Formats: sequence, structure tokens, C-alpha cells
Amino acid sequence: MPERKQLVAGNWKMNGRRADGIALARAIAERAGGRHACDLLVCPPFTLLASIGEVLGGEALAGSAVSLGGQDCHAAPAGAFTGSISAEMLRDAGCSHVILGHSERRHGLGETDADVRAKAAAAWRAGLVAIVCIGETRAEREAGSAVAVVTAQLAGSLPENAEAQRLVIAYEPVWAIGTGLVPTNADIADIHRAIRSHIPSGTRVLYGGSVNPKNAAEILGLPDVDGALVGGASLKAEDFWAIAAACR
Ligand code: 13P
Repeated sequence: MPERKQLVAGNWKMNGRRADGIALARAIAERAGGRHACDLLVCPPFTLLASIGEVLGGEALAGSAVSLGGQDCHAAPAGAFTGSISAEMLRDAGCSHVILGHSERRHGLGETDADVRAKAAAAWRAGLVAIVCIGETRAEREAGSAVAVVTAQLAGSLPENAEAQRLVIAYEPVWAIGTGLVPTNADIADIHRAIRSHIPSGTRVLYGGSVNPKNAAEILGLPDVDGALVGGASLKAEDFWAIAAACR
């Protein structure tokens, strides 16, 4: 099987007004040029998608060196769902990807595996790649149940017709997000290996949680790590680039 090209994705979360978001996207796109050793993706807040889509290449976005993704979507294509955005709307705004089931939605907003599964099906209906996030809490890790937890999340969150080319898994231990804490390399390698046995062959599995320019080379050098989902460090073009430069 050909080696999976690594993907470095920036999850901007609820950060960025128009001027700084556009400046950040422009700085990333300028450095990206035509090609890079890894695939690059930025996931700005909904309000910035259309303008950043233009920065990244407008109608030529599909061929751009930096792709665009949403941070969530509703399962329905349209309708009376105040405050929500559908996968079709993301696609219309120029997105190729959508992050689903992030721990800030699972743990902060009570999203269930069934919700994530319905959203993944919606992403595929709209032609988007679904980046499905999974990860254990600190208590679950300490209880020795990290593998069991992520395996159960995978079983509950993935629709049956999952295919490698429209799915990315992001392993993000809840306790590592925004804390500066990172699992040991052996723990990352173990869990990525376990995840891989439950997903279609060729699916990319990213690591996320306190990835920064200092630890990126080590994490991205692990055999089953196909990239990184980056939060805080994706808000600075230099840091995002340093992480991308650490790809295999
Ligand atoms: P940090 O990189 O800020 O820890 O966030 C990780 C994350 O949640 C990416 O989705």
C-alpha cells in the first residue's frame, strides 16, 4: 500500500475576526505555494469561511495547496434549525472537509456518538471528507480504558459505508487539548495502531492535543501518525508552518 500522505489541519475554534483571519490564511497560503510534502487544511469559524475560501483560491480551491474545512455541521441538508449550518452549506462555501465530534462538542455540548454518525453521513452526502474526532478523558486514561473508549467511539460514530478517501480520524485525548500535556510516544503509537484495526485500510489517523513546533517532528515521525490536528499553534502562521515542515 502506498504511504499515506500526512495532513496538517488547523482548527481555529472560535478565534478570528475578518482582518486577522484573512491575514492568517494569506500568510499560510503564500508559504504553501503550489505544493508541499503534506496536505494542509485550515478550519476557520463559519463567519470566515467564504472570505477565506477566496483567499485560498476561490473557485480553484480544489486545486489549492491549502484546503478549507468547517468545524461542525448539522445532519440535515436544510430546514428550521436556527443557528446551524449544513454540510451542503459548507460545501457551497468552498469547504472540502468538516471536523465532527470534537471533544469540545462531545464534552462541552453533549454531542453523542449517534449525533456524530449522523453528521458524518451528512458530510458524505454533501461530498465532504469527515474528520471524526475521538479521545479519552484523563480519568479514562488513568483507569486503563483509553483503547476501549476510542474503539467504542469509533463503533458508534462511523456510518457503515465508511471509506478511506472520505474519512479522517483525529485521535485527540481530551486531557491533552490546550493543556500542554501530550501522551508518550509509545501511548500515541499504541492507540493509533489500535484505531487502525477498526477503520478502512488507508484511512488517515491524525494526532491532536498540544501539538507545537517543538514536539511536532517527534509526533509526526511516529509510524501510524498520518498528520496533526492543531488548535492553538494553528493561529500563528509561523508555528503552523513549523509543524507542517516537520512532516515526514
Ligand atoms: P490544541 O492544539 O490547542 O491543544 O488543540 C487541539 C485541538 O483541539 C485541535 O482540534
